[in-house]
Amino acid sequence: MNYFIITGASKGLGEGLAMELLQEDHHLLCISRTESEQLKKMAAAKNVSLDFFLYDLSDTQGIPDLIEKIFKKIDREQAKGVYLVNNAGLIRPVNRVEDCPPKEVDKHMRVNLLAPMLLTSGFIKHLQDWKVEKRILNISSGAAKNPYYGWSCYCTGKAGLDMFGLCVSEEQKNEEHPVKTMAVAPGIIDTGMQSTIRSTSARDFIHRDKFVSFKETGQLVSPALAGKKLAHLLLSDKFTDGEITDIRDDY
Ligand SMILES: NC(=O)c1ccc[n+]([C@@H]2O[C@H](COP(=O)([O-])OP(=O)(O)OC[C@H]3O[C@@H](n4cnc5c(N)ncnc54)[C@H](OP(=O)(O)O)[C@@H]3O)[C@@H](O)[C@H]2O)c1
Repeated sequence: MNYFIITGASKGLGEGLAMELLQEDHHLLCISRTESEQLKKMAAAKNVSLDFFLYDLSDTQGIPDLIEKIFKKIDREQAKGVYLVNNAGLIRPVNRVEDCPPKEVDKHMRVNLLAPMLLTSGFIKHLQDWKVEKRILNISSGAAKNPYYGWSCYCTGKAGLDMFGLCVSEEQKNEEHPVKTMAVAPGIIDTGMQSTIRSTSARDFIHRDKFVSFKETGQLVSPALAGKKLAHLLLSDKFTDGEITDIRDDY
């Protein structure tokens, strides 16, 4: 059995990925504040085990207990592989730095950076002496490498997540059964996050019109297609520990 812990599988890219992972001998363990009825129905129709853990990832203090609960669902005897996909994320606040409300900055960094760090820590701890395939896929963005006016939180969180993954790889690479970590920028996908970007004011995000035109000219990829590519990468030999890549380049 392969177990997949996926954050943000209730909508957007995470839902697209989870749908693609609804395969025989897979068990999906999904973390988000809301559920996807469609995903639950599809899992039931395909007879694939799927659990939703309703949780607000900005509550970082509770993450060790959450991981504990999730691992109670994982049967060590049955497990061939355990996978963690740090996908949940938000774009707000979109503003110049001095105009970002401190509470929103705090929440952003908790969800986009601290939660993946703590989930990773719990994942590694629980799997320490398990002789199984262990993989973490961090969902990155072009914003990890390129600064954008108005996206200081988002760019910083994604850059931090990329670097965090590299540090984890350094710590794990000489282990007998290492946790392999890879980060992938998934392209521009037609999700709620993109509609939030288009709804910001051009004053707060000076590139807004470019993102409006991506939508108008049909350049956004569907969550289903992006999810299919990510699932393929996650399960394939192309999954490379310590690599940061862009799904549009190779996959
Ligand atoms: N869309 C793009 O073009 C694009 C491009 C590059 C990278 N990405 C990255 O792809 C990932 C997915 O984004 P998306 O576009 O699919 O966004 P989305 O449609 O807005 O979905 C975000 C997901 O994250 C979950 N989430 C948000 N806040 C949460 C919280 N406090 N606690 C728990 N779960 C939370 C949401 O679940 P609930 O609302 O149910 O909690 C939802 O499932 C993000 O990491 C994003 O940065 C997206």
